[in-house]
Amino acid sequence: MSLPEFYLNNDAQSFAFSTCRERWPKILRDAIETVSELDNPEKVKASLSKLLDEINEDGPIVVFAEKEVQTIPGLLSYNKVLSSLRSEKISLTWHTAPWLFTECYLYRRIDAIIKSQYPEFDVFHAKKQQSFKTQAAAVQDLASRYRAISEDIAAKKANVELLFREFLDICLWGNKIDLSLLANKTQEEVHSGQNAEERQKAEKNILANDSDKIWAHLSSTKSARVDIVLDNAGFETYTDLLFMLFLLTVGLCETVTVHCKTRPWMVSDTMKKDIDILLADLVDEDFFPPHEDLKFIHDTFAGFIKEGKMSIVDLEFWTLGLDYTHLDPEGDSEYGRELYKELASSTVVFIKGDLNYRKLTADRKWPKTTKFSDAIGRLAHNGIRVAALRTCKADVCVGLPEGVDEELCKLWAEQTGEEGALWCSSGNWAVISFN
Ligand code: F6P
Ligand code: MG
Repeated sequence: MSLPEFYLNNDAQSFAFSTCRERWPKILRDAIETVSELDNPEKVKASLSKLLDEINEDGPIVVFAEKEVQTIPGLLSYNKVLSSLRSEKISLTWHTAPWLFTECYLYRRIDAIIKSQYPEFDVFHAKKQQSFKTQAAAVQDLASRYRAISEDIAAKKANVELLFREFLDICLWGNKIDLSLLANKTQEEVHSGQNAEERQKAEKNILANDSDKIWAHLSSTKSARVDIVLDNAGFETYTDLLFMLFLLTVGLCETVTVHCKTRPWMVSDTMKKDIDILLADLVDEDFFPPHEDLKFIHDTFAGFIKEGKMSIVDLEFWTLGLDYTHLDPEGDSEYGRELYKELASSTVVFIKGDLNYRKLTADRKWPKTTKFSDAIGRLAHNGIRVAALRTCKADVCVGLPEGVDEELCKLWAEQTGEEGALWCSSGNWAVISFN
């Protein structure tokens, strides 16, 4: 089967188009402003500004220098992809190259520049914290809900299947928050959909829903190991952790492995240290109004870590510019082969968010009725059981019933006056896909 093309930065109908022309420059300008507050920022500021010019002027995508590759070995994989794209005669400038690859490459350029002087500095830290703080009410509500149900569970009064679906949903819509989108939306737009009533209304917006299959698989497996590949820090990670606490508490799994990013990524993605920060925030009276239910969540979580039931890991693979067909024993990435061994022994690997979904489907122009299993290539057959939970914030989407895309294109064009295909980048719809 020949593969569809990648979404490209010069596709006028794609969200890629405005992303590389408006959103990335804004993200970079913000980063420059943030580093300006550090000691002796001139060199780093100059390098970031040069990168900004490259983007604005549609310059060529250049390889990482040997010195950079020596200090950060993962960058070699970027140079390899660049040379293979070049051999396929794919245009490689900021406004024309494949969207997914250039987006990953951009964050690695920012990271390499900042690391050259401030190895530990997370340029997006303040944004992540500000956003989590604005979610105080929803955080509190969910903590109380979780505590109430854990009492029901202990008293054997809980309907575990119903609760499973509720927490899966909470975890799914937690993905609506993404700070890279704040570059052109208001906080309010990005944060909507976080309370129970709104979630219920949004049920019809889940366009492909394999939650029955996930439930059937998980509930029939003894001593399950669950993995979750996190996306955004703060509120989304909080919903992910609650879902994982729930699975452990009701015995739907025995262990959980939580996967984080090794570096600042896509503005809001979670690094290991962000989980420590999140836990500290829950019990910090200056951060959230103090509440015993928040302390309950904090202590339950800390308890599972102490018992070794939950472990937190970060691996280089997640911030490479490679799609997830490289998670394969025969794949050509050593990082991918190593991680494959881990994930193949998992009962379910929950993969969160938009960027991860784009990597699962290689960000190709699949017809939207393509089966999920066809779009994920080798991953469909190599023993990793993937459950993608994603709100749609980019063009690629598969597994939809016939006619849905056409209907939504029409609706979106009528409602917004924008290109109809942009419904799929709005974050208003979602998919739960299991293979
Ligand atoms: O598609 C829009 C976008 O902001 C991309 O820049 C990035 O791929 C993604 O969404 C980030 O979303 P998420 O945090 O859900 O992966
Ligand atoms: Mg993200």
